[in-house]
Order: sequence, then structure tokens, then C-alpha cells
Amino acid sequence: MDTLGLTKKVITVKIGGRTTEDLEQLRPFAADLKDLMAGHYPLIVHGGGAEVTRISKQLGFEPRFHEGIRITLSEEMDVVEMILSGKVNKHLVRFFQSCGLPAVGLCGADGKTFSGRTLGTVEGKETRTGNVAEVDPRLLTALFTAGFLPVLSSTSMDKRGVGVNINADTVAFEVSCKLNSDSLVFISDIPGVLKDGQVLKSLSRDEVRREIAAGTISGGMIPKATSAVEALKHGVGQVIIGQYCERGSLRALLEGGMGTCFHL
Ligand SMILES: Nc1ncnc2c1ncn2[C@@H]1O[C@H](COP(=O)(O)OP(=O)(O)OP(=O)(O)O)[C@@H](O)[C@H]1O
Ligand SMILES: [Mg+2]
Repeated sequence: MDTLGLTKKVITVKIGGRTTEDLEQLRPFAADLKDLMAGHYPLIVHGGGAEVTRISKQLGFEPRFHEGIRITLSEEMDVVEMILSGKVNKHLVRFFQSCGLPAVGLCGADGKTFSGRTLGTVEGKETRTGNVAEVDPRLLTALFTAGFLPVLSSTSMDKRGVGVNINADTVAFEVSCKLNSDSLVFISDIPGVLKDGQVLKSLSRDEVRREIAAGTISGGMIPKATSAVEALKHGVGQVIIGQYCERGSLRALLEGGMGTCFHL
């Protein structure tokens, strides 16, 4: 038993927006998760960036990004929460339940699993985008030991109870550290970190810094690669970025057969 009272190791799997929408990929992914649950406690953290962009645009909001992070204005926060912690989270829970997985959906505010702190003013605009302020693992560990599969979205609240939107990669990193995760896997729409069209098999902390400065790592890959090295630094056993392709991909990613693996 570890310091959190868990008898199995936690594996944190972050799934990106486009993966959450593709039922052709989610079905075998659910089967892989079922296998994984025999020996581990999987935690799913999900994004939903593509859906937020689509619906926000329909409502007249122009998406803004700063160093790969979405800048959520106060007037957009309700919509972002509705999409990430409503539409996307419930879609995943319903889907996993229909596959026989004991999924439970929650956001950061539930059980105060993680709370946030906003970035303040970015490029002259007040924003509800933030960072993780604190993580409380108790609700997640209670769900694990009761046999559930937690499905965590990336919105939460600040000290006053006002909504905060946090990049899902950052949430996955912060929560996986608190849970002493064995592995943290980022599943996205690319087969790994790419350079000149090739997947980089492994990346060190210094190489990540260099490739960000060189512009090879850009956009949404910036918070992902940064979170990957931060997680390693804070004790997560292994971190992989890759793509889900077919039945068995989750195991292949965990065993180093696919994707980009990180080291310090
Ligand atoms: N060097 C790189 N290698 C691979 N992808 C890169 C690289 N640099 C930038 N990217 C971009 O990063 C994207 C992945 O991050 P993105 O934030 O879009 O998705 P996600 O994090 O999986 O989903 P969500 O944001 O919904 O959680 C890729 O689709 C690609 O366009
Ligand atoms: Mg992203």
C-alpha cells in the first residue's frame, strides 16, 4: 500500500480533444482500459480544445492562444465549462459506461480535486485561464478503491468559487504527480513529438527547451512537452506522448513501442 492507501499503481492517461470525438478510436481504447484496470488504477484526464473552438466561434468568440495555451475571457468561461465539463465529459462517461467501464465524470471543483489560480492579465486582457493552485487526491483515491474509473475535465474554480479554465495537459501533470503515477500518457492527434516529419523516440529536458526555442515544438505541443518534463522532475515514473491507433495501442505506448518518451 502506498502513502495514499492505494494497493495498485495509478496510470494517468490524458486524451486530447480530437481523440474524445472519434468513436472508432474510443471503442478499442475502452477495451484497452478495461485490460489495464486489472492491475492498475487508470485516471482519464481529457481536453476538448477543438470542440471549444468550434462552439465558441459559433457564439461569436474568437479563439486566442498564448504560448499554446487558450486564453479564456471572463465572458467565455461559462461556455468553456459547459463544453468541457458538460458536453465532452458526459459524452465520454456515457460512452465508457456503454462499453462496460465504471466511469464517473468530474471536474476540478468536485471534491476540490484541483483548484486554480488565474494568470491575471494576458496581452492586455483579463483572463479566466489559470494554473493549478492545489490538488486534493481524496475523491480520486476513494473512486479508485471503490472500483470506479474517474474521468476528469480541466475546468475548476479559484478561491472565491469563480470558474477557471486550465490546460488539460497541465492538469494531467499536476494530478498525476499527486497520485504518485507510475506513468503519464498523453494521447493526441500526432504519433509523437515530430521533427522534420519524424517522431522523436526520446527527448530530454534540455532538448525540449531547445526545440521550443527553435519553434519545432509549437502551439498545443508546448504545454504538453513542458508538462511531460515537469512530471518526470516531480517523480512520475515515465511519460509518453503519442497517438491511439488500434486495440493494444495503450499497452504499446506504455511499453515504449510507440510515441515519444521523455527523460531528464
Ligand atoms: N513538434 C511537434 N510535434 C507534434 N505536434 C506538434 C508539434 N508542434 C506543434 N504541434 C501541434 O500540437 C498539436 C497537439 O496539441 P493540441 O493542443 O492541439 O491537442 P491536444 O492537447 O491533444 O488536445 P486538447 O488541447 O483538446 O487537450 C498537434 O496537433 C500539432 O499541431
Ligand atoms: Mg492541448
